[in-house]
Order: sequence, then structure tokens, then C-alpha cells
Amino acid sequence: MDDKWPRDAFLPFNAGPRACLGRRFTETESVAVIAMIVSRYKIDIKEDPKFAHETADQRRRRVLRSKPGLSMTPLKVPLVFRRRQET
Ligand code: HEM
Repeated sequence: MDDKWPRDAFLPFNAGPRACLGRRFTETESVAVIAMIVSRYKIDIKEDPKFAHETADQRRRRVLRSKPGLSMTPLKVPLVFRRRQET
């Protein structure tokens, strides 16, 4: 993956003195939520014969397409969640 994307363009919590006070909280909570989901589900990108010959880079671009704006909206995230076995 190329590392030339403008990192400063991603400011979900804003910056400076009025930046989000809940940032640390929400980042910690998000990791906990994602860990819980991933421990319960196996998550795969939906297989589609239409995209059988795409490269890894083309697949990444397709799956991560988003609509830019005040908030960024994913266009289509073709994920499949399969429940893992209960232990
Ligand atoms: C994904 C979750 C969150 C996002 C993306 C987010 C984003 C933001 C952004 C962009 C601002 C700045 C708004 C501005 O520029 O005027 C902000 C402010 C703020 N956020 Fe969050 N926030 C999140 C979660 C939280 C949580 C969980 C809390 C509290 C527990 C929180 C508390 C605050 C407070 C108090 C401010 C105002 C800071 C100030 O004006 O000095 N946020 N947030």
C-alpha cells in the first residue's frame, strides 16, 4: 500500500483547543467493541464472480470507496459476517 496519502486530511476529532474531549474514550471503547465483534464473527469480503480477476489493490479500492463530505460515508462495504462457534 502506498504511504503518500495526506494523513492530515483525516481529522475525525478535529484538532486544537476545541478538539474532541471524548477522543481517548471513544478510541478505547471502539477497540473493545471491534474486539468483541471479531471474537464472535468471522468477517470476509463477499465473493462475487464479477470481481474474480481483480488485484489486491483494486479490491482494496473497491471495498473502501467512500463519499467525501463533512463526514465520510462508505459507499458499499460488501462484508459477510459468519458467527464463530460458541466456546
Ligand atoms: C466516534 C466518536 C466521536 C467523534 C468522531 C467525535 C468528534 C468530535 C469533533 C469533530 C469535535 C469538534 C467539534 C468542533 O470542532 O466544534 C468534538 C467535540 C467534542 N466531543 Fe467528540 N467525538 C466523538 C465521541 C465523543 C465522546 C464519546 C465524547 C464524550 C464522552 C465526546 C465529547 C466531546 C466534547 C465534550 C466536545 C467539545 C470539545 C470542546 O468544544 O472543547 N466526543 N467531537
